[in-house]
Amino acid sequence: MRDLSAYNDTVLDHYNHPRNVGTLPTANAVGQAQNSACGDVLHLYLQIDDDHVSQARFKTFGCAAAIAAGSCLTEMIQGMSVSELANLRRQDVVDALGGLPPMKTHCSVLAEDAIRAALDDYNTTSQSHHPTRC
Ligand code: FES
Repeated sequence: MRDLSAYNDTVLDHYNHPRNVGTLPTANAVGQAQNSACGDVLHLYLQIDDDHVSQARFKTFGCAAAIAAGSCLTEMIQGMSVSELANLRRQDVVDALGGLPPMKTHCSVLAEDAIRAALDDYNTTSQSHHPTRC
């Protein structure tokens, strides 16, 4: 989809000026998602402190919608609790963007899948840092 005219102003703003791009050296929850339909990839880096997202960064090898979804996602989730994060769905990202063209809604799957992967990583990592005591 090379014609950007199908995107609304919010999507175009995130695409042209993506927020929170990059990696996060202090991340303690890292997730990667790949869209099985197109092969595009999104990496999500979260720093979670006191059960809340204190910082979020993303990188994507993806289309305009994937870039906008990653950018919007990182803005949405800063300050969220882990349980709020677990309840976030791709439609929440689509709604926050003011909608995506019908043929591009699948691109928001990357955002939800990256959150799931990051939460899995966080749960695995946090459990290994807090071993069960005798
Ligand atoms: Fe692959 Fe949008 S076309 S994520």
